[in-house]
Amino acid sequence: MEATGRTALYICCSVLFILTEVNSELIHIPSLVHHGIEGEPLRLPVETRFPLDKVEIQGTWSHTRPSGTRVTLVTFTKEATITDMMYRSHLHFSEPNISLEILELNQEDEGDYHLNLNIEFHNKTGLVIKEERTVHVTVDVPVSRPVIGKSPSYAVVEDKSNVTWTCSVKEGTKVVFQWLRDDIPLGPSDRYHFSQDKSTLFISPVRKEDKGSYQCVASNPVSQGQYSGTMELNVYYGPYNLEVNSGQGLRTGEVFTINPGELVFFECRADSNPPTSYVWISKSHNATQVITEGPRLEVRSYKLAQAEEYLCRAFNNVTEKQDEAQFTLVVASLGPGKEKHTQDRSSVLPLAAITVCSLFIISCMLMFFIRRTCHPKRVLMSIYNRPLTEQKRPHRSGHEDATEDFGIYEFVSIPGKMESAQASCRSLAHLESVQDMHTTIYDVIGHVPETSSQSFLE
Ligand SMILES: *[C@@H]1O[C@H](CO)[C@@H](O)[C@H](O)[C@H]1NC(C)=O
Ligand SMILES: *[C@@H]1O[C@H](CO)[C@@H](O)[C@H](O)[C@H]1NC(C)=O
Ligand SMILES: *[C@@H]1O[C@H](CO)[C@@H](O)[C@H](O)[C@H]1NC(C)=O
Ligand SMILES: *[C@@H]1O[C@H](CO)[C@@H](O)[C@H](O)[C@H]1NC(C)=O
Ligand SMILES: *[C@@H]1O[C@H](CO)[C@@H](O)[C@H](O)[C@H]1NC(C)=O
Repeated sequence: MEATGRTALYICCSVLFILTEVNSELIHIPSLVHHGIEGEPLRLPVETRFPLDKVEIQGTWSHTRPSGTRVTLVTFTKEATITDMMYRSHLHFSEPNISLEILELNQEDEGDYHLNLNIEFHNKTGLVIKEERTVHVTVDVPVSRPVIGKSPSYAVVEDKSNVTWTCSVKEGTKVVFQWLRDDIPLGPSDRYHFSQDKSTLFISPVRKEDKGSYQCVASNPVSQGQYSGTMELNVYYGPYNLEVNSGQGLRTGEVFTINPGELVFFECRADSNPPTSYVWISKSHNATQVITEGPRLEVRSYKLAQAEEYLCRAFNNVTEKQDEAQFTLVVASLGPGKEKHTQDRSSVLPLAAITVCSLFIISCMLMFFIRRTCHPKRVLMSIYNRPLTEQKRPHRSGHEDATEDFGIYEFVSIPGKMESAQASCRSLAHLESVQDMHTTIYDVIGHVPETSSQSFLE
């Protein structure tokens, strides 16, 4: 009683001695917030920045609970320490060190700890310097490994079902939860609703993108994130991104052009869970008709009369949604009415023959054009007079036997194409007249020695 009375008197006196000098930091508290673990000791360290032997000090440690009640724990001077009887076995305070130690933390120890200190230097009696500090202390129980739960436990249908996720811990105070899907943190959105502490996550309604592996993380001031096991969410969705593809034919937008006689496969694919069923529908003759089921369609082009429309329909029997992709199949024909009757092999032969003939004619024309461009007046002459060795050279004539060269040739020059030919023998180009080039008819008459091989040897 006497001690507390004396303390009160000292406090009154110190209030009277108003500070004239601001001494920035006579005491230092390394940390103003402490996260304590229940059952363990906690020290509230204080560093004094003055020589203890040259001052008179006097102070208190007091505690304000979160509820607001304030208790003085320790009152001290350099000579004496008075600890509240209630806390004698709970606290440790020893001079000259003014740090306070709580021996075994419990939930009651949470709150703010205030240190009030009056300091009077011996060389400046009468001037009392007042220092005040507040340290915040939390007391927590470490978090145990969380357990994740899901309702409903079975797979859900997108846009129709809701899912509730729960995360629970056996031990732990002030637990904060976090949710991850495929290791990506989830935040609130128009479909994601969290409870206050985030221990539950309500998804309403579920969508395709919610499919994945879920996990929750629990933490508190004294525990780093504790991860639950993972749990899968399966969502039935689709079909989406329906598309028709074919390895053959030429595609332009929704039109496939195929060669006559070709056997073509089409494949229909959609993103869907569970996989969709596929139906192929023909829309020819102004009537729809189911051709086949399954993702593949086989079309024999010679069975097509004209361009036909097809439809691939994908249906997911769980979501009860469907999608359709339409396309037109065109058979590219070379002559009217030909493609209907031509068979696989017979259609290839005339095509090849035409290509070979065309190439031959073009190369002949090109050779003559080049020769004429270089020696316009000497073409006929050279055919008669050129040495046999030169005549037989395949590189000059373009083919093996010169007898094939005889006949009537007409050379028609096309102005646009001329440039390249001219460029190839530019040195001689200036010799010819331009008018001469447009149309020239050459009559090449056959005159070749009977046995060319004999003459060649000569
Ligand atoms: C207080 O005293 C303890 C020993 O009792 C010592 O370990 C600690 O470093 C001292 N703290 C300060 C701030 O002087
Ligand atoms: C008093 O003593 C302290 C510590 O020895 C010193 O820092 C301070 O400057 C002194 N004050 C005066 C007025 O001499
Ligand atoms: C899903 O939740 C919404 C509210 O967010 C509710 O209106 C709806 O009935 C729920 N659907 C199911 C299938 O429980
Ligand atoms: C095709 O069907 C439409 C209505 O679906 C009809 O108006 C049109 O006359 C039909 N054309 C033929 C050629 O049958
Ligand atoms: C959906 O279709 C699959 C086959 O594609 C079948 O196994 C399943 O029973 C069907 N489910 C329903 C609900 O009809």
